[in-house]
Parts: sequence; C-alpha cells; structure tokens
Amino acid sequence: MLTYSQVLLNLQQQPKRWLITGVAGFIGSNLLEVLLKHNQQVVGLDNFSTGYRRNLDSVKQQVSEQQWQNFHFIHGDITNLERCKEATFDIDHVLHQAALGSVPRSIDDPIRTNHSNVTGFLNMLVASKESKVKSFTYAASSSTYGDHPALPKVEENIGKPLSPYAVTKYVNELYADVFARAYDFHSIGLRYFNVFGKRQDPDGAYAAVIPKWTARMIDNEAVDIYGDGETSRDFCYIDNAVQANILAALAPSEAKNAVYNVAVGDRTSLNQLFELIRDNLHASGVDYQLAPNYQDFRPGDVRHSQADITKAQRLLGYSPTHSVSKGLCEAMPWYVKQLALSV
Ligand SMILES: NC(=O)c1ccc[n+]([C@@H]2O[C@H](COP(=O)([O-])OP(=O)(O)OC[C@H]3O[C@@H](n4cnc5c(N)ncnc54)[C@H](O)[C@@H]3O)[C@@H](O)[C@H]2O)c1
Repeated sequence: MLTYSQVLLNLQQQPKRWLITGVAGFIGSNLLEVLLKHNQQVVGLDNFSTGYRRNLDSVKQQVSEQQWQNFHFIHGDITNLERCKEATFDIDHVLHQAALGSVPRSIDDPIRTNHSNVTGFLNMLVASKESKVKSFTYAASSSTYGDHPALPKVEENIGKPLSPYAVTKYVNELYADVFARAYDFHSIGLRYFNVFGKRQDPDGAYAAVIPKWTARMIDNEAVDIYGDGETSRDFCYIDNAVQANILAALAPSEAKNAVYNVAVGDRTSLNQLFELIRDNLHASGVDYQLAPNYQDFRPGDVRHSQADITKAQRLLGYSPTHSVSKGLCEAMPWYVKQLALSV
C-alpha cells in the first residue's frame, strides 16, 4: 500500500479534477489548500451559510498565482440538484464536506439541518453517480456512535443517535450503502472525531470547543465547561483529516463502500484540554489566569468518545501525524495572529 507522501507525489505527477463541497468552511478550505499546493484542479461549491469568503482568500495567499488559477468556485447550495450536477461535471474525485454542523444547532433547528445534511447529501450522491465520478468521499461523524457505551469506538458498533444532527449523519451512511447496492456506486464515509485547526470558526453560538475557548482565553474572558469537565473527546488535528480524505479518494475498490473513524485514538478530557490550550497560549505569549465556569451538561452531548483507528490504518494506509498536543502547538500561533488582525 502506498504511503500518504507517495500518494501526494503521484497526484502531483498526474493531476486530477476534484470537487470540494463546503469549500469555504474549515475542513473544506484546508483540503483546498493542500490540493492546490499539489497542483490539482479543484472546483469548490459553497453557499456561505457557515463558511466564509475570507477562508478562500486565506488559501489564495498560501498558494502560487498559477495554483490559484486551478480553482473554480461555484456559489451555490447542495439542496439544489442542478447546482450539484453542474459542480460534479467532469470531476474525478468528490470530497463532500458541505453540511450544517453542530449538535446544539440541530436541536434548535432540525428542519434546516435535515435539509442541508440529508436532502443536500442525496442530491450530491445522485449528481456524482450521474456524472460517473471516480470516487465519492463524504464527511460522516462520530456522533453516529450515539449512546453506544463501548470505548474505543469500532465502526461496526453504533448506538442510538442523541441529536437530529447525528440522525442526519447516520442517514448519510445508510444512503451511501444503498447507493452501492442499488446502483453499484461505491463511496467512503469518514467519521470525523472533533477536528480542529486553522480556519475553524471561533465565533457564534455553535462554535466548536477548541476555537471558542482559545478565542475567549485570548480575550481574557472566562470559558464555560458543560458538566464536570471529565467528558472526553478524541480531538483530531486538521492535517490528519486532510490525509484521510486524500487517501480515501484514491483507495482501492476493496476499501470502498465503508465508513472509517478519523481521529488519533487518544482521549482528552475537557479539563485536560483547558490546561493544554492555556499552556500553549502561554508559549505564544498569552498569560491566562482565569478558572473555568462549570455549567450543566448539555443535552445531546456524548459523554466519552475515543476512536479505534485500526480499520483506517489497515485499509486506507491512514497514519495520523499529529497528536492533540502537537496539533494545538501548531494551531496556536494562527489563532493568536488572527485575533491580533481582528482587533
Ligand atoms: N469539524 C468537526 O469536528 C466535524 C466533526 C464531524 C463531522 N464534521 C463534518 O465535516 C464537514 C465539514 O465541517 P466543518 O467543521 O468544516 O464545518 P464548516 O461549517 O466550517 O463547513 C461547512 C461548509 O459547508 C457549507 N454549507 C453548509 N450547508 C451548505 C449547503 N446547503 N450548500 C452549500 N454549502 C453548504 C458552509 O457554508 C461551510 O462553508 C461537515 O459535513 C460536518 O458535519 C465535522
């Protein structure tokens, strides 16, 4: 099996045409940056519902002018089938990231979440099948493990979903599986576990924990911890998630029609995370002294999460390069600089 570096080298020698949905978002824009840096042709689709033009501008600054010419952006919505057909035309590899994330958002507005995450997903499957793309890789979620108590999480053992968001991500997996049976259209679902890194949105009610806390600590404001702080997650640095996507897109057919955990295989409690962020900020010159505010547990939140990543290692050749500490260490200067720019 080829290593990730070999796969990237091959791509550079024989560039492909990629579609990234949700390209203006956190994970999508990081995928865009890596693909353009390896001279790929990329089409991006986004409706800017939770993504930003500034993420695309930031990628533009990271690549050469010629590499940027290889990018074509379509402002559109995946709930519009015609837009999906236009976007998938003549594409080799689809990396489908567009969705409305966040468990609390889905509890507040299940209909909107369902529309993007289920109708939009089905449109993308239909369009990709009709356009005869070579691969379809989609963002699944660790929330699909729901109330299953076993740790670490193994792909085949899932529980009942705990939120509308988790239902939508599980429905994606069911549709993907049915498309393999009914139409011989094989895809790969990547169950991300709390991905973090540069360009993840720190603002708004539905921000993820790492960018939210980091921004608050930089502003010297108190952070809220829901529950006793012993809730734990397998935090996954963005570089690991990008690697998983590219390997999945180019995976052999035996590895298709399956879902894979994408994480590190570690478990970090919120209390530990608080200390890690505080210490990393300290190293970047931010001295934070406040204690966390402990609040009630939030509905829909899973208590513990830790991935078994052996399936992705075995069948995709996935090999995470960043632990949570290494990822935080790499991401922290970016957050500090971003905040300085936004003042
Ligand atoms: N970040 C994580 O920890 C995590 C964990 C599990 C799963 N995921 C999944 O990964 C994917 C990417 O997440 P992210 O963290 O980059 O989120 P994000 O909100 O930064 O990116 C999602 C992007 O999709 C776009 N989008 C949403 N609905 C759309 C629609 N109807 N049409 C077109 N574009 C639309 C948004 O504008 C945004 O740019 C999502 O599918 C999310 O559910 C993320």
